[in-house]
Amino acid sequence: MSSVVRSGRISVPALRARKGGTPIVALTAYTAPMAGHLDPHVDVLLVGDSLGMVIYGFETTLPVTLEMMIAHAAAVVRGSSRACVIVDLPWGTYRESPEQAYRNAARLLAETGAGAVKLEGGQEMAETIAFLTARGIPVCGHVGLMPQDTLMEGGYRATGRTEDSAARVLADAMAVAEAGAFMIVLEGTLEPVAAGMTRSIAVPIIGIGASPHCDGQVLVTDDMLGLYGSFQPRFVKRYAELALTVAEAAACYAEDVRTRRFPAMEHCYTLSR
Ligand code: KIV
Repeated sequence: MSSVVRSGRISVPALRARKGGTPIVALTAYTAPMAGHLDPHVDVLLVGDSLGMVIYGFETTLPVTLEMMIAHAAAVVRGSSRACVIVDLPWGTYRESPEQAYRNAARLLAETGAGAVKLEGGQEMAETIAFLTARGIPVCGHVGLMPQDTLMEGGYRATGRTEDSAARVLADAMAVAEAGAFMIVLEGTLEPVAAGMTRSIAVPIIGIGASPHCDGQVLVTDDMLGLYGSFQPRFVKRYAELALTVAEAAACYAEDVRTRRFPAMEHCYTLSR
């Protein structure tokens, strides 16, 4: 298949060509073992800056550094062989100038082996996206609810609820697509606005809290596995309750240690084995 690169991974052009076709399946991954579990089932492994909350326990994505993203993205690349790995540019590493964005995006790709970067922003980021894509850096856009704007927005709010807001999200997506983004994540946007946008934008729109009519869907893996947080956003569907499984396993282990049921002889080294 010509659109798959030599490494066997799903390529950026292959994802771009999926517009209007079979929905693109994306999940976040931050570690090599989880990447390995997810890789056979997904098209995209997104090393999202959501790792700031999910892995590091920060309240927002803002404290995430380029070095954290590089370490986790390299682990995800090592743990996978099929999916396209896309890495978030963290806050403060790409909005100063196109040159700053280029320097940091090039580091992310060169030091991790990932296939593309993702960055948040609409019309105001179009010049930067054009600068990066003209210089060989594949960019996935991210519009609608943009978690890195939490300070300006005063929290996380769904977009597209008013005519002005809907027009702005659409203009943002158009600007990002025209600047050269091969795909766009659309987060937290009113369903009819998201569905309309998917029809009118030429590149795949990947929804999260958006619409079933998007060209694909992404979720934070720890959310859908029931591993992260007690608050469940409306757009998350839980496919497992792993936090309960972990707690039950930890309780059994604790009981076994306290009652000396663990370790048993089979877990010990002896002269005969
Ligand atoms: O950081 C992240 O995980 C993301 C997804 C929620 C789309 O940007």
